[in-house]
Amino acid sequence: MNSKITVIGGGNVGATTAQRLAEKSLGDVVLVDVVEGMPQGKALDLAQAGPVQGYDTGLTGANGYAESAGSDVVIITAGLPRKPGMSRDDLLLTNAAIVRKVTERALRQSPEAIFIIVSNPLDAMCHVAKGAAGLARQRVIGMAGILDSARFRTFIARELGVSVESTHAFVLGGHGDTMVPLARYSTVAGVPVTELIAADRLQAIIQRTRDGGAEIVRLLKTGSAFYAPSAAAVEMVESILLDKKKILPCAAFLEGEYGVSRLFLGVPVKLRRCGIEEVFQINMTTDEKARLQRSAASVQELVDVLRENGFRVE
Ligand code: NAI
Ligand code: 2OP
Repeated sequence: MNSKITVIGGGNVGATTAQRLAEKSLGDVVLVDVVEGMPQGKALDLAQAGPVQGYDTGLTGANGYAESAGSDVVIITAGLPRKPGMSRDDLLLTNAAIVRKVTERALRQSPEAIFIIVSNPLDAMCHVAKGAAGLARQRVIGMAGILDSARFRTFIARELGVSVESTHAFVLGGHGDTMVPLARYSTVAGVPVTELIAADRLQAIIQRTRDGGAEIVRLLKTGSAFYAPSAAAVEMVESILLDKKKILPCAAFLEGEYGVSRLFLGVPVKLRRCGIEEVFQINMTTDEKARLQRSAASVQELVDVLRENGFRVE
C-alpha cells in the first residue's frame, strides 16, 4: 500500500510541497486548505501533470480532514506568510491559533502520523503542535535547518565556484535572526570552509544566510520563499518514509541535549520511519555554545508569550 501524506495549507509552500512529493512518488498526497475549491483545483492540476511527468500518485484536494484519514505524515504549512518589514515573530498568535486547530483536526484522523511543522515562527509553532497533539517528541519535527543550511551551501558554492553537491553545511538554533551557522562543520569535499574562504567573506556569507528569508521577502513583496522550503520539507519526508536515517538539521524538542531543556531548537537529528530516532550530538566551542544558548533564549521568549496567551506549550 502506498504511504499517505497530508499537506495542510495549499498556498505557495503547501502546493509546491505536494508537487515535489508527487514527482518523487513518495506516496498519495492530500492537500487541505480552507479556501473553497483551491486545494481541489491544485490537486486535479497536479494529477493531470502525472501522465507527462510519469507519476501515478493519488492526489486529492479537500477543505476538511476526512480525506486525510490514515496519513503516515502530516505537513503543516497553514498560516500567514511574512510581508515586507514583518519578522517571523509578528505572525506568532495568528498562526498559533491556526496551527493548534489544524493539528487537533489532523491528529483525530491520523493518530499514527508524524507531524512536520513549517508554519512560522517555526520553533514556537512546533511547541503549539506538540502541545495540541500531546505527542512524543519523535513525532513532531520542525523544518528550518535544512532550508537555512541549503542557503548557506548555495552561497558557499557560489563563492568558491563549486557544485552545491560538493558542499555540506550545518545551521543550528532557532529559525530566526539568532540562527547559528556553524562554519567549522560546513565543508566543501570534506574541507572546512574556514580553510577555504577568507574570514571577512565568510562572515558576509553567514550574515546573508541569516537574512536569507528576509532577502526573498523583500524581492517577492507579496510572500515568502517556497521553492527551497518545500524541497527541505520533502527531504524530511523522504528520510522518514524510506527510513533513510539521514542526519538533518531540524527543530527537535530537546530534553537536555546541547544544554537545552524542554524547548524546540534546530539541531542535527537522525530521521527514520519512527520520526526522530536520535538527537545527534556534535562538539561545540564555548562561543558556539553561547550563540546556541542565545538562540534558545529567543525561542523561549516566544514560547512564554504563547503560554501567557493560553496556548498549551509543552
Ligand atoms: P501562503 O499564504 O501561500 O499559504 C498559506 C495557506 O494556508 C493559504 O492557502 C491559506 O488559505 C492556508 N490556511 C490558512 N488557515 C488555514 C487553516 N485553518 N486550515 C488550512 N489552511 C489554512 O503561505 P506560504 O508561503 O505557503 O507559507 C506558509 C507558512 O509557512 C507561513 O507561516 C510561512 O511563514 C511559513 N514558512 C516557513 C518556512 C520555514 O523555514 N519553516 C519557510 C517558508 C515559509
Ligand atoms: C524563510 O526563511 C519565511 O521562514 C521563511 O524563507
